[in-house]
Amino acid sequence: MTNFKAYRIFETEEGRFERKIVERKTSELPEGEILIKVAYAGLNFKDALSSSGHKGITKQFPHTPGVDASGVVAESNSAKFKAGDEVLVTGYDLGMNTDGGFGEYIRVPEGWVVPLPATFDLRSAMILGTAGFTAALALYKMEMAGQSPEMGELVVTGATGGVGSMAVSIFSKAGYDVIASSGKTEAYDYLKKLGATRCEGREFCNDEKKRPVTSTKWAGGLDTVGGNTLTTLMAGCGKNGSIGVCGLVGSPKLEATVYPFLLNGVNLIGVESAETKMETRLELWNKLSSIWKPENLEDITTDISLQELDTYILKILDGKTKGRVVVKHG
Ligand SMILES: NC(=O)c1ccc[n+]([C@@H]2O[C@H](COP(=O)([O-])OP(=O)(O)OC[C@H]3O[C@@H](n4cnc5c(N)ncnc54)[C@H](OP(=O)(O)O)[C@@H]3O)[C@@H](O)[C@H]2O)c1
Repeated sequence: MTNFKAYRIFETEEGRFERKIVERKTSELPEGEILIKVAYAGLNFKDALSSSGHKGITKQFPHTPGVDASGVVAESNSAKFKAGDEVLVTGYDLGMNTDGGFGEYIRVPEGWVVPLPATFDLRSAMILGTAGFTAALALYKMEMAGQSPEMGELVVTGATGGVGSMAVSIFSKAGYDVIASSGKTEAYDYLKKLGATRCEGREFCNDEKKRPVTSTKWAGGLDTVGGNTLTTLMAGCGKNGSIGVCGLVGSPKLEATVYPFLLNGVNLIGVESAETKMETRLELWNKLSSIWKPENLEDITTDISLQELDTYILKILDGKTKGRVVVKHG
């Protein structure tokens, strides 16, 4: 049994949520074949919701958030992994109702563990984390539905966010021209460095007139915002293009007509990364560590400590972070 530090969320009797760094013991962690000493975690919008007591993400408190973790196997009851192996875990139930990467140790089922992909170290794997994996999954599904660079530009909304930054970089690496839509005009140089061909404001993807179909503005895209932004992406999508739907930072609502489907054959593609089956997961991490490997990872990253999580959780809830926030343990 080992003592370790964890960033925990407690629910008070009055129904408020308090965040504290506390001492824990590995014997208090849930059951599972693999005990991992966590080196790095990623901060995602979902972690900020869990840290705020969002019961749609985390039902039981106290709880340790953190849907992404990379580290070294400390103990293994699995033939697939041995002590000392470098690994990562993203998604499944980690950080939702299973103690997550904001603790210095996690214990998880062997079926959640991915060997550290070639060309990544423990930190760079967390720069990608769920955000990079989700952007890759979106492109994978869009291409399965027929998307190709020859069809024209892809648009990415919430472009300076974690998923957005990764999508701009990965789509560009995969050969696409990318329109980055962002509320941060001061970040246009950053987005161009990641690979955006051009940058537009949020209003470019938010048609106030709510027209069901407009002239073609993009050949496909990935939406992290939801609401009228998603409706606008569908309305402006070219023939047989795909719109990946992965987020709701603006709104969980979708008000649309059937016209984009009937007139333009648009594909609306659901992107759910957490439960991606292991075979696809390994295939995507392989692409991410080779042909889709994002460039400029350092420009995307803000490194923080456990003590700085409070500040960055408030920032990400306010849409004020840029790129990926990586938490270093120890
Ligand atoms: N489906 C999945 O598997 C999956 C996986 C990961 C994440 N997600 C979801 O994807 C979304 C993005 O996650 P993330 O971790 O990338 O979050 P994030 O880092 O906070 O990025 C979100 C970005 O959206 C923009 N934004 C924020 N508030 C907005 C608003 N009210 N209206 C329009 N744009 C706004 C901002 O970018 P700009 O300033 O550049 O516009 C912000 O940086 C979240 O909803 C998250 O839950 C889903």
